[in-house]
Amino acid sequence: MSHGLIRDVVVNANIIEMEYAVRGAIPQRAAELKKQGRNIIFCNIGNPQALGQRPISYYRQILSLVEDPGQISREHQLRKVVGASIRDAALMLKEDVLQQAEYILHKMESGMGAYTESRGPAFIREAIARFIDERDQVSGGDGLRANPDHIFLTNGASDAVKSVLEMLIAAPQDGIMIPIPQYPLYSAAIKKLGGVQVNYYPDEESGWSLERAMLDESIRAAREQGVNVKAIVVINPGNPTGAILDEGSMREVIAFAHENNLAIMADEVYQENVYDGRFVSFAKMVGRAPVPLFSLHSVSKGFYGECGHRGGYLEVRNAPRVQGTDANFIDILVKQASVSLCSNTVGQILVYLMVTPPAPGSASAASFAREKQQILEELYKKAEIIKEAFTHMEGMHCFGRIGALYLFPRIDHLPAGTSDFEYCMQLLETTGLCTVNGRGFGQKPGTHHLRIAFLPPAEMLQEVLPQWIDFHNRHVRG
Ligand SMILES: Cc1ncc(COP(=O)(O)O)c(C=O)c1O
Repeated sequence: MSHGLIRDVVVNANIIEMEYAVRGAIPQRAAELKKQGRNIIFCNIGNPQALGQRPISYYRQILSLVEDPGQISREHQLRKVVGASIRDAALMLKEDVLQQAEYILHKMESGMGAYTESRGPAFIREAIARFIDERDQVSGGDGLRANPDHIFLTNGASDAVKSVLEMLIAAPQDGIMIPIPQYPLYSAAIKKLGGVQVNYYPDEESGWSLERAMLDESIRAAREQGVNVKAIVVINPGNPTGAILDEGSMREVIAFAHENNLAIMADEVYQENVYDGRFVSFAKMVGRAPVPLFSLHSVSKGFYGECGHRGGYLEVRNAPRVQGTDANFIDILVKQASVSLCSNTVGQILVYLMVTPPAPGSASAASFAREKQQILEELYKKAEIIKEAFTHMEGMHCFGRIGALYLFPRIDHLPAGTSDFEYCMQLLETTGLCTVNGRGFGQKPGTHHLRIAFLPPAEMLQEVLPQWIDFHNRHVRG
């Protein structure tokens, strides 16, 4: 059949209009340049293993055993043959790796190739609940423990974000408050679902802290336009800012949500990326406040960086009832999850491993701790190297503590009539460094920024940063 006979199709206009700068025009140009043989450093996306970060060995050893259980039988045979007399540790798997893989396979019952329960296997949800309680120092009788039945395993945090927004955006005037700048998954999903994006603006110069007056103003302006605001999204540590919210800001958000009857969506995928401090979760801060809370976590970031394996979870607290029905929000989420059958099992196992690190004193404990520490220390060191380079760039200011995987400096001087888009494009053409301009994440009108993921190897940064400084100072002088 000739192509001319195929009729045009009408496609959901919301999807056509959706934008996602992290894979937008600048990265697309970078891919073209790479094809032409240019050396490109991809700092446009938080994809650690694409920039050489090694996977944690403990995770991969277990994954390979559960995917190929024949290796476990072979290991047992080998142990019998070799016996206690010749202990060739290099030939044999560590005891805890073997035991953990056997335990997982026992619990998975039908193995890795079968659909699981839609929410995810109970033993994984129970392990997540224990992880949350331990992280938040919740003890037995205080009624604040995580409930495994209110936890959903997902294909990465992206899926969790989409399912919650799908439920909340029920009418065209339904609005979701998102920080500006934000991770564009939120603006794109709100657009796709036909809801209203309601911007609020953390204060850049005070390290991206949140002030009550600014939240009040944002909701007031939205309501004036007839928007029915349903939830507030908080990304902590932040993307693209990398900023870490102080506890005062978290309290403001909770009080604000409570008074305005909003749910909180706490995107905490960078909870291991706080470097010089301790992570405080929204679940802990919400405590007994009767505020619906959706918390997200993922295997993609932290020190694990297992983006491609698509694992994550959603934890729901204070689930509201669903108006006009006998159902609770959880019931509808279960129904929604069941339509997709289940999340992928490799991602599920990685989530399990993320929340159950090797026990202290076990055979893998020391090497696991070493690999984890090395990755986190290197990330922080790379962030510091880049931040230091900004001090040699005219009018470049980067606020807030170092968190997540990104720096988001403000570019105060630009040639007249140009924006951060031209800046990033020319930075790419000149140095091969692929970043994303601030507009892709949203920014206060009249300001310009860029986001850089601090993932490339330090040697690569040492080479490209002097070129960037040189480019910058020439560019801004016009
Ligand atoms: C703030 C934030 N939330 C969610 C995601 C998506 O994570 P996942 O890979 O788990 O879908 C990302 C990815 O970069 C992110 O930065």
